[in-house]
Amino acid sequence: MARIVVVGSINMDLVTTVAVRPEPGETVAGEGFALVPGGKGSNQAIAARRAGAEVDFVGAVGADVFADALRGVLSEAGVGVARLRTVEGPSGVATIVVDGSGENTIVVVGGANARMTELDDADLDTIAAADVLMCQLEIPLRTVRAAAAHARAHGTVVMLNPSPVRELPAAVWSDVDVAVVNEGEAARFGAALAPVPHVITTLGAAGAAYRDPDGRILTQLGVPVEVVDTTGAGDTFTGALAAHWHEGADTALAWACTAGALATTKLGASAAIPTRAEILAALAGIA
Ligand code: RIB
Repeated sequence: MARIVVVGSINMDLVTTVAVRPEPGETVAGEGFALVPGGKGSNQAIAARRAGAEVDFVGAVGADVFADALRGVLSEAGVGVARLRTVEGPSGVATIVVDGSGENTIVVVGGANARMTELDDADLDTIAAADVLMCQLEIPLRTVRAAAAHARAHGTVVMLNPSPVRELPAAVWSDVDVAVVNEGEAARFGAALAPVPHVITTLGAAGAAYRDPDGRILTQLGVPVEVVDTTGAGDTFTGALAAHWHEGADTALAWACTAGALATTKLGASAAIPTRAEILAALAGIA
């Protein structure tokens, strides 16, 4: 069983469903509303756990009304929360609008995630003891870089999902073993990804493409599903990939594409992440 540590974000998602997203300046009637724990770090941690890994989460919630639910969703999934701190001020929140086709728009306010500026000795020990470190870009970049450098120094595989996309110094990539990008991120970072030995590009419903250290490309077809909400599908893909990375790229990609597709069939990020049994059933169905 892979041992994974996520150093990343956790948010409360304020999810509104609507037939057609409003144009700027327009007001429309929504169809529903739900509070669903999310955040790219938390989603990826839960996805890795449900896909069969042992997972620890390093991050922060605020001292507010959302904190217990955010901590609870990780614990209930079986993710280790010993390194989840509570800091002053609000937790991270994401305002998400999902339309009738399952597409979304997301506005994230970092809150406690933005105050994840330091890693202490216990965090660093957790990183050093893991097989894979997973990071995203919803916490300060200096924390991501410190985590990646420490992982590198201790033989922990560094997996970076550079989302939400932002300018990155080229040196960031020299500490990354595996980059997981969507098509927009792949285009944005382009040649900067060249030093990364393993690059996986998610292709939405079409599946994913993997570029190995020798430049060979392996593709994995998508799994056809009825899409309800794409929120967190990339996170679920990444978590499942990390959980199965040690089994080889083709196995890991099959798990990732299947888990990511299943995650689009329900509303809400963490609520839609499939269990190991659900992924196995779907894999058996397409074998
Ligand atoms: O990737 C989906 C996630 O992005 C949501 O859960 C939201 O919290 C934002 O971080």
